[in-house]
Amino acid sequence: MIIAIDGPAGAGKSTVCRILAERLRFVYLDTGAMYRALAWALLSNEAGLSGEEISGRLPRLSLDFLIKEGGLVITHEGKELTNEIRNMEIADEASRISQFESVRSYLLNWQRRLGEQGDIVAEGRDTTTVVFPQAELKVFLTADLNSRVERRRREYMLKGIDVSPGEMERRIRERDEADSKRALAPMRPAEDAIILDTSDLDISQVVESLVRMAKGLIARDGGQKTGDG
Ligand code: DC
Repeated sequence: MIIAIDGPAGAGKSTVCRILAERLRFVYLDTGAMYRALAWALLSNEAGLSGEEISGRLPRLSLDFLIKEGGLVITHEGKELTNEIRNMEIADEASRISQFESVRSYLLNWQRRLGEQGDIVAEGRDTTTVVFPQAELKVFLTADLNSRVERRRREYMLKGIDVSPGEMERRIRERDEADSKRALAPMRPAEDAIILDTSDLDISQVVESLVRMAKGLIARDGGQKTGDG
C-alpha cells in the first residue's frame, strides 16, 4: 500500500509522516531529503550550477539511497547524510535544482525503486501527482502562512537558529512560489487528493485523522497491514 502526502514547507508533513509510518509499520520515504542530499552533494563542490552542468555531474556523484529499519538512509561517498541537509541554504538550493529535468528524472527513478519495497508513506511535493499517482491514499497537507512560519521558526529555534518572522515568511513564500510555479512536476494537489488544512490542528490530531483514513482503506481492502492497535 502506498500513502502519498504532499504539501508546502511548514505544513507539518515530515513530523506527521514519520509518526504515521511508525504507527502503521510502513516505510517512511522523505523525498524532500533526496532533493536536499543532491543539493548538498552538488553544493559541496560548486554553487549555482545550471541544469546542464548538473546533468553532466549526476553520473559521477556517489549518492546512495536505501531503506533501512523503516526509513530512508542517504549516503554520500559512503558517509551518511543527516543534519547537514537540514538548513535553510540547502532547502533553498534543493528547491532551485528541483526545477531541472535531469534532477527530477534522476530522483524519480530512485523514488520509484524505493517505493517497490513494500508499504510506504511517501512525502514531498509531487508524490501524489507524479511519483506515485497510483497511491491508495493521497493527501495534500497544508496550513495558512502564519502557522507555517511559526512552526518553521520553532523548529529552527530548537536547533539554536533564531530567524525573524519576516525573514522566515519571505523564505517560505519564495519557496512556495518556486515549488508551485515550476514547469516540471509543480506542487499542487492531485485531483483525487484529500486536502487537509492543519492550521488549527496539532500533530496528534493530524496523525489520528490520517491513521483513520489509512485503516479505513486497509479494512476495506481486507488487508491486515497495520500493527497498530
Ligand atoms: O520537503 P523539503 O522542504 O525537504 O523539500 C526541499 C525542496 O525539495 C522543496 O522545496 C522542493 C524540492 N522537492 C521537490 O521538488 N519534490 C519533492 N517531491 C520533494 C521536494
